[in-house]
Amino acid sequence: MHMNIVFVSSEVFPFSKTGGLADVAGTLPVEIGNLGNNVKVFTPKYGSINETKHGLIYQEHISEIPITVSGEIKKVHVHKAFLPNTQIEVYFIDFQPFFFRDSYYTNDIDEADRFILFSKAVLEILQRIKWKPDLIHCNDWQTGLIPLYLKDNYSWDKLFHNTASLFTIHNVGYQGQFGAETLMKAEIRFEYFNNFGEVKQNDHVNFLKTGISFADIINTVSNTYAQELLTPEFSYGMDHILNYRGHDFYGILNGVDYNIWNPSTDKHIPFNYSPEDLSGKKQNKKVLCEQFNLPYDENIPIIGIVSRLAIQKGFDLIARSLEYLSHLPFQWIVLGAGEDYFEEMFQTFANYRPEKAACHIGYNNDLAHLIEAGSDMFLMPSHYEPCGLNQIYSLKYGTVPIVRKTGGLSDTVKDWDEYKARGEETGNGFSFDKYDGFALTNSVERALNCYKNKPVWQKIMLNGMKENFSWHRSAEQYALLYKKAISKVRG
Ligand code: ADP
Ligand code: GLC
Repeated sequence: MHMNIVFVSSEVFPFSKTGGLADVAGTLPVEIGNLGNNVKVFTPKYGSINETKHGLIYQEHISEIPITVSGEIKKVHVHKAFLPNTQIEVYFIDFQPFFFRDSYYTNDIDEADRFILFSKAVLEILQRIKWKPDLIHCNDWQTGLIPLYLKDNYSWDKLFHNTASLFTIHNVGYQGQFGAETLMKAEIRFEYFNNFGEVKQNDHVNFLKTGISFADIINTVSNTYAQELLTPEFSYGMDHILNYRGHDFYGILNGVDYNIWNPSTDKHIPFNYSPEDLSGKKQNKKVLCEQFNLPYDENIPIIGIVSRLAIQKGFDLIARSLEYLSHLPFQWIVLGAGEDYFEEMFQTFANYRPEKAACHIGYNNDLAHLIEAGSDMFLMPSHYEPCGLNQIYSLKYGTVPIVRKTGGLSDTVKDWDEYKARGEETGNGFSFDKYDGFALTNSVERALNCYKNKPVWQKIMLNGMKENFSWHRSAEQYALLYKKAISKVRG
């Protein structure tokens, strides 16, 4: 059965990106398409998206769509482009007063309005183009109202009869929680707030919970995180509703686009390399050192970090261990942006020890690739990690990951066992369980020790480079969930 799938995401690579969601939204729809389905992607048109570079075309015949938000009519415009080198159409929802801001997500008072408009616009555009979806795949809180709208506000329209929804949780730490007045703004029935509280959390309207309550099927982006989300420790209050929906809740590990993240073809790095010929990696390390003004030393490993600098990512463990780490024989390079505290920490340390540490505060895709290619190790001490893509990229680049054993990090990084015979050992990285500074520094020291033994190190690198986390398998699992959701709706 071929399916008509609508994929909705608040960021889509290469048009917009703050994190892994964009990577997923830029690739999964292509793989779903390759399985023989028709897919259309919907996303906001942010001010930073370059129309000419990405070939956006204004859709005159479906523009000026009136959308009511907070009782006011907003006129929405539509542009269209394709995901690069594919026939997959991307619809850009254009309402400049909402989407031309300094960042994609804001603390502005109309944050709820922005994504109410986005969610309604998806359905209104489908009505205008008369395209009947078998399933709408919603991602994260920004799209959480769509499953409710399908079941209620827009259910009068035959176009959406039999349209199922899948809601994917990429990160439970961001929920889109707004005041109760949002019920009126979004035209949500009061009974959903009061009877069983499908949309209500802590006396607020919660968009993530709404998605979880109303979607036909729910999933998250790794098996371990799916288990973790059922517990109060990890769920940020969503464990009740997720346990309630337990039979409809699944984990599917993200894949990686090896057309983009592959050291043997990567166009962003100066020297390509492969498991058969690793020499380019050393060359990349030299370029990386030059770029960051660090002295190059073959025997001193570089630990790379490329990350949103958010508390989720475990950088408070680094803060606690900074003094100890500063005495260990490695250099580190950090690329990231986010919370002031962590930006200042990495910047201050780099100023204090310029021969040991460097950092670039900001977002830079070219540098992200160079750091993956030129570093020897990659550090992700995450407090929680739904999937995590960087450690998977690192494996492919022979950049040995050091991670905390949580969520998707558990499902992708296998701890190297120093005591097993080298030939048998399948470990591809280093991991630690306990969320404390000692456990972190202990793993770093284990990695540094192994680094000294060249054949051992090469074995760890190659174990990682041989792993295959391509999207194909995950896309097949998504297609199965789509079918499950569709048959639920059709009874
Ligand atoms: P998350 O989605 O939680 O941020 P992931 O590991 O899933 O974490 O994905 C992060 C993605 O964002 C990766 O593709 C990574 O390379 C990219 N990224 C993060 N920070 C930066 C940055 N400062 N510059 C460039 N790319 C970045
Ligand atoms: C989120 C998570 C990250 C995951 C990404 C894509 O931002 O923090 O772990 O890889 O979404 O699913």
